[in-house]
Amino acid sequence: MLNGSRIVPVVVLDDASFAPDLADALAAGGIPCAEITLRTPAALKAIRAIAGRSDFAVGAGTVTTVAQVDAAVDAGATYLVSPGFDDAVAERAAARGVPLVPGIATATEIQRAVAAGLDHLKVFPAAAVGGPAALRAFAGPFPDVRFLPSGGVSAANAGEYLALPSVFAVSGSWMVPSAALSARDAETVRALSAEATAAIGVPAA
Ligand code: 3PG
Repeated sequence: MLNGSRIVPVVVLDDASFAPDLADALAAGGIPCAEITLRTPAALKAIRAIAGRSDFAVGAGTVTTVAQVDAAVDAGATYLVSPGFDDAVAERAAARGVPLVPGIATATEIQRAVAAGLDHLKVFPAAAVGGPAALRAFAGPFPDVRFLPSGGVSAANAGEYLALPSVFAVSGSWMVPSAALSARDAETVRALSAEATAAIGVPAA
């Protein structure tokens, strides 16, 4: 799903024409994937601009409706991420055959997601939910679930989350700051990505 990456950049992009350079910069920094959030009018065009690359896994984030599932998959997203859990969104993602990582913040939400057949879940907002301690606690009753902490993750604490056996990857926006994206500053994205991958012990490509 993530092309082997254990870090997922959460991208809020206003300029779709920067998407190919952005993907190149992330990949050069050792992060061959991105979650393009459907928070901007440019998002679907950005997904289309980098979909189909064999060296890069593009997903759609902030997917909250059935219509967005269809739009994202039609644009070429190969996985979907939601901030929360919604049965209709989960059903449509399954029908379209695309992996969905829905957000959860409580044990009740984990149970609902598991009942819907999902076992890779985003913990959002991870820091506010309780950080690594909360992840350790969730792993007790849900040993088969794998988590993607997001929200307050940084180069400084990514390694601590990733050391947990229940964590398959972390996500966040720290390597794609809005100032760098609006300035089309690919070098900053590459450098922050390389710093992030070095911090978790994965050398840049
Ligand atoms: C999000 O969906 O906005 C992510 O959780 C990113 O959180 P961050 O900006 O704290 O990295």
